[in-house]
Amino acid sequence: MANIIDGKALAQKLRDRLKSEVDMLKDQGIKPGLAVVLVGDNPASLVYVKAKGKACDEVSINSFQRTLHKEITQKELLWQISELNNDPKVHGILVQLPLPEHLDEELILEAISPEKDVDGFHPMNTGRLVINKPLFQPCTPLGIIKLIENTGVDISGKEAVVVGRSNIVGKPVAFMLLHRNATVTICHSRTQNLREKIGRADILIAAIGKPAAIKGEWIKQGAIVIDVGINRLDGGKLVGDVEFDGAFKKASFITPVPGGVGPMTIAMLLYNTVAAAKRQSKGIRV
Ligand code: GUN
Repeated sequence: MANIIDGKALAQKLRDRLKSEVDMLKDQGIKPGLAVVLVGDNPASLVYVKAKGKACDEVSINSFQRTLHKEITQKELLWQISELNNDPKVHGILVQLPLPEHLDEELILEAISPEKDVDGFHPMNTGRLVINKPLFQPCTPLGIIKLIENTGVDISGKEAVVVGRSNIVGKPVAFMLLHRNATVTICHSRTQNLREKIGRADILIAAIGKPAAIKGEWIKQGAIVIDVGINRLDGGKLVGDVEFDGAFKKASFITPVPGGVGPMTIAMLLYNTVAAAKRQSKGIRV
């Protein structure tokens, strides 16, 4: 039977530590600030944006929220971003995804100054992660690494299998594991014999977005299982991408859904924002 990885508790510990750091920065006249840009009224995005604002308040980070009309033009949105890029009170900028269809997501993300890109989605930050010279790293993958490191199990030399190849989770977490000397396999919707690949994983990262797509019996005895999926069933229940009860019997460590990866994402966003404020106060440029 597995140990449950308590993401909520670890995130709280990290927030407490960040709060002390923010209090110390205040004595030096530095008040970290995060701008969160929401375009439109996607209900899930509204929930996330609210949670990010609340988390900022808890650790005394200034939060600036810009809620923009869903029909905003690309030009207008780019102008808003450039205003935030030039605002010294704003150390981190986050544009909540997904954006409405008429906006070019790639172009918008590239418009954020890499120095303020606390989501780690700018191509410069992606490139720096790939060559293992990271500046800002994406929050969910960084949270996953912290959860694994917190188990005390050494990542080096382990077989890691990542299921999902998104730019937000699958690809960056694969590179983070590689840089910690894991042997990494990335699986996706066209992968053949998924079960066989999952059966090799000492560390399994499931980031597919399909409820209970990975069966407990596929999992290697003693594996660490990190479930990034948050899927709402018809009855309202939240479940991950891994069939929990079966996986719980085989894994050595497993994240619950909710209360595993989710809380870590926001904690890492706060961490990146504080790091951005410290860099900018010292005048460090990329
Ligand atoms: N939408 C879903 N996840 C994320 C995230 O990590 N950052 C942003 N900006 N939008 C998201």
